[in-house]
Formats: sequence, C-alpha cells, structure tokens
Amino acid sequence: MSPEEMLKSFPDQLQWEKTDIDRSLYRTITFCGMGGSGIVGDIAKSWLEHRGCNVVAMSHRGYGLPNYVKGEEHLVICTSYSGNTEETISNFEAAMERDATVICISSGGKLEELAKKSGVLHLKVPSGFAPRYALGYMLSKILTLLGVEKDELEDAKENLKTSYDEIKKKGEEIASKLYGYIPIIYATPLTEACAFRWKTQINENSKTQAYFATLPEMHHNEVVGLDNAEIRSKCAFVVMFDPKDHERVRRRVDITIRLLKDLGIVPVVIGGDGNSYLARLLYLIHVGDWASYYLAGKYGFEPLPVKVIDWIKEELSKG
Ligand code: PA5
Repeated sequence: MSPEEMLKSFPDQLQWEKTDIDRSLYRTITFCGMGGSGIVGDIAKSWLEHRGCNVVAMSHRGYGLPNYVKGEEHLVICTSYSGNTEETISNFEAAMERDATVICISSGGKLEELAKKSGVLHLKVPSGFAPRYALGYMLSKILTLLGVEKDELEDAKENLKTSYDEIKKKGEEIASKLYGYIPIIYATPLTEACAFRWKTQINENSKTQAYFATLPEMHHNEVVGLDNAEIRSKCAFVVMFDPKDHERVRRRVDITIRLLKDLGIVPVVIGGDGNSYLARLLYLIHVGDWASYYLAGKYGFEPLPVKVIDWIKEELSKG
C-alpha cells in the first residue's frame, strides 16, 4: 500500500467495538509505547482528561515502569505496532512482575506471543502498515477500552471524511509554508498531543528536524529565544489551539500571534474543526499528517522508510 493510500485510510481505521472492561476497577492507567505507537497514549490521555475522568492517566515512554504501578488496580496498556519494540516489551515485563493488569495492542510480534503465553488480553490490529500510519486502528482500540461512545467516534470519523478535501488542501498549503525552514509548533494543553504528532510526522515522513513548545510554559522561556533574529529567520512557525482551551490560554495564543507578527513573522494559525474534542484532535492530526507527506515530496524524500530507526533497532538487537 502506498503512503497516500495508508493516509487516506485513516478515517476508516477508526472502528468502534464493544468492550466489557470495567474501568472503575483501576486507580491509574499507564499508556506505554514508543514513536508512532506511543502517540496513541498521549492522545488517549488528553481525551480522558478533557472528559473529566478521575483516574490518573500517564503516558510512559522508555524502559520499566513508574514506581506507582504496583498491583492489579493499576492498568498498563502496552502498544507496539510491530510488537517487537524493546522498550514496550520491557514495560510489559515490568507490569507482569508488579502484578498490574495488562492489555497489549500490536499487529503481532513478540508482544502478541508474550501476552498469549501469560493469558493477557491482546488486541490485534491489521498488519501491512508503517506503525505511524496505523494510528487510527491503535487509537480506536484504546478509546473503545476507555469507554468512548460509538456516536462520538463515528462523528469524528464522519468529520474527517466530509472534510477530506479541505484537510488535504490545508496540509499541502502548510507544507509550502514549512518548506526550507525548521518547523516550530506552538501548542496549547489541549493540542499538545497534536503538536507532538506533527513534530514526529515531520521528522519521520519529511526527514526534517521539527520542534514544539506548549503554552503557558513557553511564555516563560521559549519566547525569549525569538529575540535571536538570525536563528528565527531559519524557522517557520505554527500556532495551534482548541476552542475549548482555558480562557487565559486563548488569551496567550492571541498574544503569541501578536508577538510573532510584531517580529515580521506570519505564523500558520490552526484550530481543529469538529463538534467534539476528539473530532478536533483527529482533524488537526490529519492535517499534520498530510502536511508531512507533502513536505516529504517537496524535499524529494519517500515518506515511508525510516532507515536510521531500523539501523538503531538492528544495532540494539545485537545485545
Ligand atoms: O512510526 C514508526 O515507524 C516509529 O515511530 C515506530 O512506531 C517506533 O519505532 C516504535 O515501533 P512500534 O510502533 O512497532 O512499536
């Protein structure tokens, strides 16, 4: 399947399924995963927090597990598209040692084998995708586990479908603005997961460095860096927000845009479009996915291969 076909399939990857998980049993939920599989935890965490869920949710990247995970009242969701990422296998092993409740998501690999051997719930996603292009499959498995309503997921899916041409066009326009510059994405708490996804998609698909910072924290450091005209002239800026961000954050978004404009910078300003927070998150993510795809084309790169990631994994597999 071509990268374009994989991207196009994103809305249809969002599939609601019935689940009988009793979420009231858990005190914490720890999402474990790396790269294209790790982002699903960030999105799920934002979505859970926005809907006012009382359970502590954490997105964990790296080996082992945070100390608080001890006992079955802690739910650990291990997501690895390939099922072979060593950090995620390490999370699985730590969760089993600590008697946590574990759920695994992968298209196969070692994680599936381990889950089956240990009698742990394993949710399988279709194979044949690059991990980051299978976001919809992995995310809808997790959201379903977390209790997303069928209507909410269907509405977000429909929103992506009806806005398909607009999303693609925006992605292409944004790619033209980012071309030749280091993309810097300024986000808000409600759009931080999207900014991170934009950064990583630009890294992996467009083979380009990209960075992001989040309000309000960036008003206490990042903004001072804008004083350096030599460096800022090498960057292209994106400001993203959600209409439901805290009112003081919205005020800070306006101040940030003014600050950039006063420096002669015209940022790309983008908010998600959709009836629900989930719909807007997925809209923003899809615009960024297309932008990274078109940016790859402008630089003459194939979006799919990530040779250096493969090489590092190969080196690590030697011991
Ligand atoms: O998108 C990619 O190819 C990477 O970011 C991978 O997702 C990352 O290396 C982790 O691999 P996996 O998703 O198979 O666990």
